[in-house]
Amino acid sequence: MTIYLDNAATSFPKPESVYKAVSDTLKKYGSSPGRGGHKMSMQTERIIFETRERIASFFNIPYSSNVIFTFNVTMGINLALKGFLKAGDHVLTSSMEHNAVMRPLKRLEKEGISKTVVKCSKEGFLNPKDIEKEIKSNTKLIVITHASNVTGTILPIREVGEIAKKKGIAFLLDAAQSAGLLPIDVQKDNIDMLGCTGHKSLFGPQGTGFLYIKDGLDVKPLIEGGTGSNSESDEMPDFFPDKFQAGTLNTPGIAGLGAGIEFIQKEGLKNIRDKEMHLTTKIMNGLKNIKGVKLYGSLNPSDRVAVISFNIEGKDPAYVGNILNEKYDIMSRVGLHCAPNAHRTIGTFPVGTVRVSVGYFNTEDDIEILIKTVRDIAG
Ligand code: ALA
Repeated sequence: MTIYLDNAATSFPKPESVYKAVSDTLKKYGSSPGRGGHKMSMQTERIIFETRERIASFFNIPYSSNVIFTFNVTMGINLALKGFLKAGDHVLTSSMEHNAVMRPLKRLEKEGISKTVVKCSKEGFLNPKDIEKEIKSNTKLIVITHASNVTGTILPIREVGEIAKKKGIAFLLDAAQSAGLLPIDVQKDNIDMLGCTGHKSLFGPQGTGFLYIKDGLDVKPLIEGGTGSNSESDEMPDFFPDKFQAGTLNTPGIAGLGAGIEFIQKEGLKNIRDKEMHLTTKIMNGLKNIKGVKLYGSLNPSDRVAVISFNIEGKDPAYVGNILNEKYDIMSRVGLHCAPNAHRTIGTFPVGTVRVSVGYFNTEDDIEILIKTVRDIAG
């Protein structure tokens, strides 16, 4: 029996309604949204509109047109950083970031944009006061992850949003690991740009995601091309969302994303989080008592999402992951998880950790088998 514990990479399985929405869109409508006046094109355009509206209501986004569909959160973060920052600007970030943030920032440094990486604790906690201390006269943006994809540690977004607002600095949130699990309210949390991926806790297919951009921010598009609007002009339209969305959208994926969010709304965000945290706590309690096993991050479940990193003394994480996969059919993710800075912060660079990440469809049995297996490997 396969046990899938790599939900932080991509959630699996999806709710049945997601498979149906993708399949119906491909089989029944199929056409390009907004590119023709015909009935099928109107149907796909309606699917796009409904998902956009659902996203807006889920994250308390005032105008749904400010939701830009992307192919993943990396694309959204690239659009936000490269479209918003200009030479001479300074940006603040944390030491728990994924390469989706760190690599575009590295590239931007070559274009005259400076950055300060604020150090987090060994558990991955960010002290908001450390962010405030590093603000300079040219600080234009704060970008942080909501929850670490390595330790699951939740960062204090409400406090950071308040600091950003008070200082007149824009706030970009990378919600890759939190959207669909933790409440996010762009207005209460003072989020100016919100990057989300569809294929993790929002239960959508891969190739989906979005960036919310608040009205009034001066952001350049990342790509240009056909939008189905203002076609007489060589320039991109100057209105949301067309300004940022060139080329045919992933309509089947977006239909699936809408169904994924609808599933969360029906089940209840809190119920989903409670179940995942119950299973996560069970893993932590089981693993912490095994001799030779070291857990990373806080042991307090309310400090984290359902992501657990651990190592077994004297055993390379790649070796452990391989045994889990080959011998026990347990899917984990090992190594640096595309977040080398986070591993430097928690002291596991360069070998990394074994990461198991729980999803809504995992069972108590899955967790018991994992704990028994790790005990066997630890010997
Ligand atoms: N960023 C994703 C992960 O942590 C892919 O696995």
